[in-house]
Amino acid sequence: MHDTAAAITALKSRLGSRVCIMGHHYQNDAVVRHCDITGDSLELARRVPDITADHIVFCGVYFMGESAVLLAKAGQQVHLPAPDADCAMSLMSPAESARAVLRQLHDGGRRVIPVAYVNTTLALKAVVGEFGGTVCTSANARTVMRWALDQGQGVLFLPDRHLGRNVGKQLGLGPDDWHLLELGADGLSPAERDPAHRLWKTPLLLWPGCCPIHDHLTVEQIAAARAAHPGCLVMAHPECRPEVIDLCDGAGSTSFLINEAARLAAEKPGSTLIVGTETNLVDRLGERHAGSCTVLPLGPAICPDMGKVTEKNLLATLQAIETGTAEPLEVDQALCPPARQTLTRMLEICAAS
Ligand code: 13P
Ligand code: SF4
Repeated sequence: MHDTAAAITALKSRLGSRVCIMGHHYQNDAVVRHCDITGDSLELARRVPDITADHIVFCGVYFMGESAVLLAKAGQQVHLPAPDADCAMSLMSPAESARAVLRQLHDGGRRVIPVAYVNTTLALKAVVGEFGGTVCTSANARTVMRWALDQGQGVLFLPDRHLGRNVGKQLGLGPDDWHLLELGADGLSPAERDPAHRLWKTPLLLWPGCCPIHDHLTVEQIAAARAAHPGCLVMAHPECRPEVIDLCDGAGSTSFLINEAARLAAEKPGSTLIVGTETNLVDRLGERHAGSCTVLPLGPAICPDMGKVTEKNLLATLQAIETGTAEPLEVDQALCPPARQTLTRMLEICAAS
C-alpha cells in the first residue's frame, strides 16, 4: 500500500473508537477507502447523532462540517481535512440577502416558508430557522417541499433553482406556479416589490442559485449518449437543469444513482447506464459494476472543492488529533439554535412521512 495510505491505516487503528471518518460519495476513491461512513448528504446527517467518537473527521465541503457540528453531541469535535473546500452553490445565497427578502415578503403580508437545500451556510440555515423554515437534501426535497407548501402561503426555495423546479414539477407545479427571483441590491428587485407583481401570488419562489458542476450537463450530451449507446438508460442528479432531467429515465440523489446502478447490474446485465453527476462517483460505479453493466458519465463534472480533500490532508488531520494540536471547526454559537432547528425539523418531517 502507498505510504500515506499505510500511515492513515496505522493512525486509525491507534486512535480506534476515538475517531470516526465520514465521507461524501463525491470524494475520490483514495479518500473513500479510509471512511468509516460514506453516504449522501441525508445519510450523513442522519448518522451523526449516533456517533460516539470524540472526533468526527468530515471528508466533504464546509457546509457538511457545519451540519455535523450542529448534529454532534456536546464536547464532540468536528474536523475538516480541507477547511477551504467550500460548496460554490452554498455561497450563492448569503444570509443577509435571504433575510432581506423574507422580511420584505413578510412585511408585504406573505408568510412564505423558507426551504433551504442543505448545501447552504450555517448563517443561512439560522435565517431559515428564524422564519419557521426547514432544510432538505436532494433525497427528501419532495417530502419537505410538500410539507412546506401545506404550511402556509407559499415556499421560498433556496439556493438551487434547478432542484426547486424539478421538485416543484414532481408535485404538479407548472410555470405559472413558480417565480425565479430577480433580486436587487437589497432584497427583492424594485419591480418585485410592486404589490401587483405576480410573485405575491406565486406559490413557489426560487432563489437564483445552482450547482455550477451539474448546471454544465446538457440536453445535447443526452442526445449524444443515446445515439452512441442505443438502448442505454440515462439518470441524473436533480441539481441538473430541468430540461436535462425531463429527458432522463430517472433522477435522484447520489444514493439513488448508486442503487439504480446496482439494480441494473443485477437485473439487466450487459446494459449501459449514463449518469449525470460528479465524476468521482460515476467512475466508482463504472469500476464497481465492470463486467455486468457499463456505467459512463453524461459529461465532465468534477467538483474542485470536493477534490480538495486528499489522503495527505486527511493524514495531517489524524496526526493533529493524535498529538492534541488539531483545530476543530468552530461555528458561531449564537446562530446554532435556529440553524439546528432546521436540521432537526427536516429529520422529523422525514421520519413522519
Ligand atoms: P446529495 O448528497 O444529496 O446527493 O447531494 C449532492 C451534492 O451536491 C453534495 O454536495
Ligand atoms: Fe456544491 Fe455542486 Fe460541489 Fe456539490 S457538486 S459540493 S453542490 S458545488
